[in-house]
Amino acid sequence: MTTSSAPGKIILFGEHAVVYGYPALAVPVTQVQVKVTVSGNKRGGVLIEAPDINLSAELSSLPPDQPVAAVINSVFSTVGISEPPACTIHIQSTIPVASGLGSGAAVSVAVLRALSAFLGHPLPDEKVNLLAFEVEKLHHGTPSGIDNAVVTYARPVYFINKETIKTFHAGAPFLILIGDTGIAAPTKESVTAVRKLWQTDQTRWEEMFARIGEIVRDARRAIERGDNFKLGKLMNANHAILKEMTVSCAELDRLVTAALQSGALGAKLSGGGRGGNMIALVEKENAPAVARALEIAGTKRTILTQVG
Ligand code: PMV
Repeated sequence: MTTSSAPGKIILFGEHAVVYGYPALAVPVTQVQVKVTVSGNKRGGVLIEAPDINLSAELSSLPPDQPVAAVINSVFSTVGISEPPACTIHIQSTIPVASGLGSGAAVSVAVLRALSAFLGHPLPDEKVNLLAFEVEKLHHGTPSGIDNAVVTYARPVYFINKETIKTFHAGAPFLILIGDTGIAAPTKESVTAVRKLWQTDQTRWEEMFARIGEIVRDARRAIERGDNFKLGKLMNANHAILKEMTVSCAELDRLVTAALQSGALGAKLSGGGRGGNMIALVEKENAPAVARALEIAGTKRTILTQVG
């Protein structure tokens, strides 16, 4: 029997612009996890048991572009197995689906690792990242690759599409409170919507992306200096541009406002937007008050995570 776990993730800065070649910052969220166990079975076939994502099936009954089937088949073809051994792949997840916490990437990464180890050919990180990226294309259409990178390496990442993945270090640890609107918002839809708008006025959209790119570079410097005050201001500036880009929504804006009014240093949506999660930069002293304000404003749940 083999097991593997993978964390969730949040994007701190740069979502959407990152798809167009601008930088973004993202960090793992270890409070939520996917855990995969692979064991032999006597019944025969490859069985998938994934109650948290409502999946219980025999591999051969799934279409090849079903993301979990695709990731399993990619392990078999990468390690050169044409007759898979009888096994059961059990997937447990505490990461909410379609909410910007990287659930799809975490399932892919944990399956790639646990299954390749079960077959006696554990895959190196670079290969796990590449194969998970291929599956992200089924989830997202045109992903930047940031989700699979953060989840594979489980480290803070300064990410630019097609460039070597760089990590970053916080000069001082800081706290991020994640607030879930509870609205499932598939990233594919918001990424497609942004692409359509970008096509109608590329000059205006590239200018917005470039402003986000500047914010991301400033944010990385602020994180490295441990300047939380500046970091909060940059989150607010990034959220304002995301609003202009139409990827926020009333529920996200309500949570962002509630966070700022209750003492957060900054707040913004995180991920694809139009639902899913927002994040707020908080201090240890005011984290409970901000969490309470988010609950009153309608969050379905909050997660407090430390970066650095
Ligand atoms: O919704 P999430 O957290 O999976 O993030 C998507 C981030 C985007 O920049 C909108 C898309 C991408 O592939 O980078």
